[in-house]
Amino acid sequence: MDRKIGIIGYGSMGRMLVEKFMDSQCVSAKDLLVANRTFEKIVHLKDKCTVCESNREATKEADIVFLCVRPVDMKDILLEIKEHIKEDSLLVSLNGSIMFEQIEQICKGKIAKAIPSVTAEVNQSQTLVCYNEQVTDADKECLTGLLSCMGMVIELPEHEMGMGSELVSCMPGFIAAIFQELCESAKKHTSLSESQIARMVLHTMEGTGTLMLEKEYSFEDVISRVATKGGITEEGTKVIQEQFPVVADDVFEKTLEKRRQTTEKARESFEG
Ligand SMILES: NC(=O)c1ccc[n+]([C@@H]2O[C@H](COP(=O)([O-])OP(=O)(O)OC[C@H]3O[C@@H](n4cnc5c(N)ncnc54)[C@H](OP(=O)(O)O)[C@@H]3O)[C@@H](O)[C@H]2O)c1
Repeated sequence: MDRKIGIIGYGSMGRMLVEKFMDSQCVSAKDLLVANRTFEKIVHLKDKCTVCESNREATKEADIVFLCVRPVDMKDILLEIKEHIKEDSLLVSLNGSIMFEQIEQICKGKIAKAIPSVTAEVNQSQTLVCYNEQVTDADKECLTGLLSCMGMVIELPEHEMGMGSELVSCMPGFIAAIFQELCESAKKHTSLSESQIARMVLHTMEGTGTLMLEKEYSFEDVISRVATKGGITEEGTKVIQEQFPVVADDVFEKTLEKRRQTTEKARESFEG
């Protein structure tokens, strides 16, 4: 790709994007422009990409600018770079709580949001993207091509980014928490080591996912394949089906409420 890519913020997300773009060689060193508030943190990149001394420098020639900063820092950065964004450039916010209408109060052009998941580290991200109305199909194709270096890219309408994030971005945490409980309980009934239990469960999770995706099995299909009537698995699945719905409902009620509060806080910080 011969487009110039600006990255503002070299924290957890910014670093991941820089590493993925460099490793996949989808952006050349001279075309990858990186800026961070604490300049010392990016000095070591100077042989691998273009290290910028200011956010303006990372913006003024970039065709796509990724804003990898916390919501509290977003408004000041937009005010700082707005005069330097090229007319046709695409601004990509990695933050899910700040809405297009807020960014558009400062920057009127093409804006996207991109939310990668932690599984991007092993190139299995399901990165969620949404776009404002100015973004063209060619821009979408370009951003999708770029983000594909770390997995799948899924476009959603802006109002579905919240639930989308629960399903792909928060889900690794939910899955880990559920299976941690199951492993803890298994430990009480066996002399197998903790790590052996975890490995067995993890490979089973991976295998079950692959089985379902490749064979297009539904959850119901898997349950009926394994939990034969009157058998052992049925005893376990019955407990889960009876007791888990309350927990599942609570998970989404709590997280979606927290998301509403975070969005409101972001709105206030923008308007303040
Ligand atoms: N972490 C995740 O798993 C995840 C997933 C999806 C989306 N996101 C979103 O991605 C965004 C970034 O999250 P993060 O976890 O990467 O945050 P982070 O680790 O705190 O990194 C934020 C970076 O922004 C830099 N920064 C702050 N103000 C700046 C300024 N004025 N100019 C240039 N750089 C500035 C900070 O520089 P210093 O070095 O000076 O602190 C820091 O390197 C957030 O909006 C978050 O909601 C995060």
